[in-house]
Amino acid sequence: MQLEITTPDDWHVHFRDGDALQYTVPATAKTFGRAIVMPNLVPPITTVTQAEAYRQRILAHAQGANFGSSTHLFEPLMTLYLTEQMASSEIAAAAASPHVFACKLYPAGATTNSANGVRDPANIYPLLEAMEKLDLPLLVHGEVTEQEVDIFDREAVFIDRHLAPIAKNFPGLRIVFEHITTAAAVDFVKESSNRIGATLTPQHLMHNRNDLLVGGIRPHLYCLPILKAANDQRALQQAAISGNPRFFLGTDSAPHARLTKEAACGCAGCYSAPTAIELYAEIFEQLGALDKLEGFASFFGADFYRLPRNITRLRLQRTSNIVPERAPFVGEDGIVPLHAGKTISWQQS
Ligand code: DOR
Ligand code: ZN
Repeated sequence: MQLEITTPDDWHVHFRDGDALQYTVPATAKTFGRAIVMPNLVPPITTVTQAEAYRQRILAHAQGANFGSSTHLFEPLMTLYLTEQMASSEIAAAAASPHVFACKLYPAGATTNSANGVRDPANIYPLLEAMEKLDLPLLVHGEVTEQEVDIFDREAVFIDRHLAPIAKNFPGLRIVFEHITTAAAVDFVKESSNRIGATLTPQHLMHNRNDLLVGGIRPHLYCLPILKAANDQRALQQAAISGNPRFFLGTDSAPHARLTKEAACGCAGCYSAPTAIELYAEIFEQLGALDKLEGFASFFGADFYRLPRNITRLRLQRTSNIVPERAPFVGEDGIVPLHAGKTISWQQS
């Protein structure tokens, strides 16, 4: 059996920089036409000039990526990292740039390389106002960082304390609630106007916190926001296959070298890029909704960002496919991809 869909896009990916790019960029470019590239480098990408230079470094590794029968050049869609020090003129420059497509709000301390992020979203309201006016989408890592808030509650609390007020204060701002993990987030998006969308990762669709913690801790399933309960997982699955165009594909593929995850204090992030579309196909098939994959993977994100849908096609074969135990990465230890060593039923052809 074969499945053919319009070339998909990844609306949330981490490529890192330098030596990592030779691995991470081809892993995404072999499948996806475009990807929204996260700016949480060290130091973060906070200016259009930095974003342009980073884009060139990415493009140097994207040559000749293959899409099904046709050859196509992968397009990185750049983002800026919002800080409380950023000037509104930078937002204007971003909106004017043909290569910058959104700005990302990281609450300070919420996740990898977020130390320069935002301490209180109210402090960046002037930037959000400029983004609203210039129709530049806001991407949100939706977790509070207060010590007293339980890690499993941080997304739901963020909705009440910050996201709902932002949505109310900036009714024209397009917002992507990134890598949602809870039934509360699904409900929030469904109940919002159609300018609020959300991305869904393969790990949050395939797993819940039991998979992370029961019978031993599995560091390669540790990401942020952390995996939640089975009822949350079911709500995410239903959103993904609902055909609601405000839920779309964003892998949050976040590479960390093997020994930085298999450690006493392991890093957060799942590296799903090498078999991302296959993993989504696997879930959609298990949910009896393969016919909904193309909208989720190839149409709804482009429509939300108001970009043309891809015109090339991607073919997947239904065949037994073992995800490699390790992939090459910076350093000798390699990297452990999501679902490493497991057999899935789909493979790109
Ligand atoms: O698990 C995660 N890893 N979540 C994030 O928000 C950031 C990412 C990373 O950059 O490693
Ligand atoms: Zn991310």
